[in-house]
Amino acid sequence: MDTTEQIKPKLLSENQVKAYNLHLFSNEEKAIANYKKSMKKAVKAIAKNLQDRDTPFTGASMELLKKRVNHIDFKNDEAKSLEYVIEELKDLYLNDCIHFHHPKYIAHLNCPILTPTLVAEAFISSLNSSMDTWDQSAGGTFIELKLIDWTLDLLGYPKNGDGIFTSGGTQSNMMGLLLARDHYIKTNYNIDPKMDGLPQEASKFKILCSEVSHFSLKKNLSLLGLGQNAVVAVAVDKNFKMSITDLKAKISQLKEQGNIPIAIVGTAGTTDFGSIDPLTDIAQTAKENKMWFHVDAAYGGGLLISELHKEKLKGIELSDSTTIDYHKTFYQPVSSSGFFMRDKSFVDYIKYHADYLNSKEQEEEGIPNMVKKSIQTTRRFDALKLWFTLRIIGVRGLSSYLETAIENAKFTAEFLRNRKDFEIIHNPEISAVVFRYTPYTGGDASYCNLNSYIRKAIFNEGKAIITSTKVNDEVFLKFTLLNPLTTTQDIEEVLELIIQHGQEYSLKN
Ligand SMILES: Cc1ncc(COP(=O)(O)O)c(C=O)c1O
Repeated sequence: MDTTEQIKPKLLSENQVKAYNLHLFSNEEKAIANYKKSMKKAVKAIAKNLQDRDTPFTGASMELLKKRVNHIDFKNDEAKSLEYVIEELKDLYLNDCIHFHHPKYIAHLNCPILTPTLVAEAFISSLNSSMDTWDQSAGGTFIELKLIDWTLDLLGYPKNGDGIFTSGGTQSNMMGLLLARDHYIKTNYNIDPKMDGLPQEASKFKILCSEVSHFSLKKNLSLLGLGQNAVVAVAVDKNFKMSITDLKAKISQLKEQGNIPIAIVGTAGTTDFGSIDPLTDIAQTAKENKMWFHVDAAYGGGLLISELHKEKLKGIELSDSTTIDYHKTFYQPVSSSGFFMRDKSFVDYIKYHADYLNSKEQEEEGIPNMVKKSIQTTRRFDALKLWFTLRIIGVRGLSSYLETAIENAKFTAEFLRNRKDFEIIHNPEISAVVFRYTPYTGGDASYCNLNSYIRKAIFNEGKAIITSTKVNDEVFLKFTLLNPLTTTQDIEEVLELIIQHGQEYSLKN
C-alpha cells in the first residue's frame, strides 16, 4: 500500500479536497505561495484603508452595520475568493472601523500600536505556538520568561518573584484576587483552598479598593465566590487618590463588625482620572493588618520604563502582586498583559499537573511548563510583540510615547484651566483628563444633558472620538491621551468641536 496517499473524506471529489487543502498552512509549495499572496492582499487592503480615511470614525449607524452583517448567509456554503471576502469586509467592517491610531481618537485606553508588533503578530498567528507547555512553544517559553524577568526587575520585586502573560488587566486582577484569597485561607485556616474550596468565614472576607477603582475587581470577586459585596470602597481625595485615613478607618470598622479584611488593591492609574494611589502608605497599612497588597497598574504600568515618571509608582515594589497591561501604555496590540507576584511559591495556589500536558515528572526534570502559572491553558505567544518592540525600538523610544502623551494631558489641563467655559476637576497625573463644558450658569442637571449630547454628537460625526464618565452622578467628558502623534492643534480642534456641538445643543433646547 502506498502510505503517502491522502485519505479523502466521503462525498468529496479529489479536486474539492485539493482546493480545501490549499487553505491549510503547510510547507507544500502551493500553500506557501497562497500564504504569501494572501498576506500581501490583507496588508494592501489595510494600507488602503489607512490612506483613504482621515477621521477616526465614519459615523456609520448601528442599524446599517447590523443589517449588512445579518445579510450574510452561512447556509450558502459556496466558496468565495479572498478578494471577494476582503471586498465584502469593507462594507461590513473595514470602511467604518474605529481607528485607534488616529490622533483625534482620544476616548478610551486604546493605544496606537507599533509596526514591529504587527510583524511579531504575523509570527505569532502563523506559527501559532501555544505557551502552556514547553513541547508546544520551545524557544517561545524562554522569550516570555526573559520578558517576565525584565518586568519583575522594573517592578523592583525580589529575585524570587514570578509572572505570566495574560489576556488583559481583567484576568491579571482576577489572579491577584485569587492569590490574595487563597493565601489568606492557607495561612489562617486548616484548609487547602485549592482542594477544599472556601471556609465558612469566607462570606466575611472583604477587599478594600478606592471608590474609583476598576469594575473588574467586583466582577472578579463574584467569580471567585466572595461576591461583589466583598468590595469595600475607600474614599478618594480631591485628586481621586485613595485616602489613607479612610482606608485605616474602614479596616478598623470592618474588624469591629466581625468582617475579615484580607486584601487592599491600590490602583496605579485609575481608568477615569489616571490617578495613582499612595502605594507606599497602602503597603504599610497592608503590612500592619497582615493583608495582601495588589496593585492594579493596568494603565500606569508604562511609567515604570520612564526615567521622568517612574517615581510616581514608588511603593509598587512593596506589593504582593501587580497587574500590568502592555496593551495600554506599552503600545502593544490587544492582547498583551502581565500578572506578577513577589514570591514564586504563590504559584502553588493555581498549579495543576495534568498527566497529558505538564506531569509532575516533567516538573522534576526541570521542564518549564508555563501552564502551572496561568488560569488559561492554551495561550497566545503575546510576549513576542513586546520582544520585537524592545529589540527594534528599545526602552528609551518606547518610554518617549507615553511621556509625550503626559505632556499633551498637561497642555490640555492648562488650556482648560484658563477657560471660563470649561471646568476641569483634577490635575492629570498620567494622560486622562476629565472636564466638562460649562458655557453658562446652568447648574449640574443641564450640564449633564449638554455634555452627554456633545459626546454622542461627536461620535456620530466621526471627526474625533472622546468619551464621558460620571463623577458623583454628573456627566463629564474625558480625553484619554495615548497617541504621541496627537498635537496641541488636534487637542484645540477637538475642544472646538465640543464648543460647536455644545452651541448646537443650546440652539435646539
Ligand atoms: C485600571 C484598570 N484595570 C483593569 C482594566 C481591565 O483591563 P483589560 O481591559 O485589559 O481587561 C482596565 C481597563 O481599562 C483599567 O483601566
